[in-house]
Amino acid sequence: MQRTLSIVKPDGVNKNLIGEVIKRFENAGLKVVALKMAHLAKKQAEGFYAVHRQRPFFDSLTTFMCSGPIVPMVLEGKDAIKKVRDIMGATNPKDAAPGTIRKDFADSIESNIVHGSDAPDTAAFEIGYFFNATEILR
Ligand code: CMP
Repeated sequence: MQRTLSIVKPDGVNKNLIGEVIKRFENAGLKVVALKMAHLAKKQAEGFYAVHRQRPFFDSLTTFMCSGPIVPMVLEGKDAIKKVRDIMGATNPKDAAPGTIRKDFADSIESNIVHGSDAPDTAAFEIGYFFNATEILR
């Protein structure tokens, strides 16, 4: 069993895709064990994406992530990190495989609907960024 953090980003919420994203994760056998809505302040978005601080897209990315409500969630299951990443598709929707969330719905590499942790250590950091232990239920 493994846990990962996913976020329906502001563009996904704006396009009424919260249910669609969760349905795809649940259909793959993943369990939602924590869920909330949030509207990040710039500093909170910067803290979440701190590993990208030196990247040229950091300011644009963090501004986008606080442009509207988001839906962070913790998903649990076998190989949850890889499963979520496979269901999301490549970061750039132009490279995403058919049938993935980003291929089906994303407009650009920045407005790409959904986030998923990329490794166990980042999953642990990202889950803790949004949820404390008492908010993770199963
Ligand atoms: P995400 O999986 O949330 O992780 C970091 C995000 O940065 C990524 O999705 C993209 O939305 C964004 N990103 C990555 N590369 C670029 C880029 N070259 N230009 C703009 N945004 C990017």
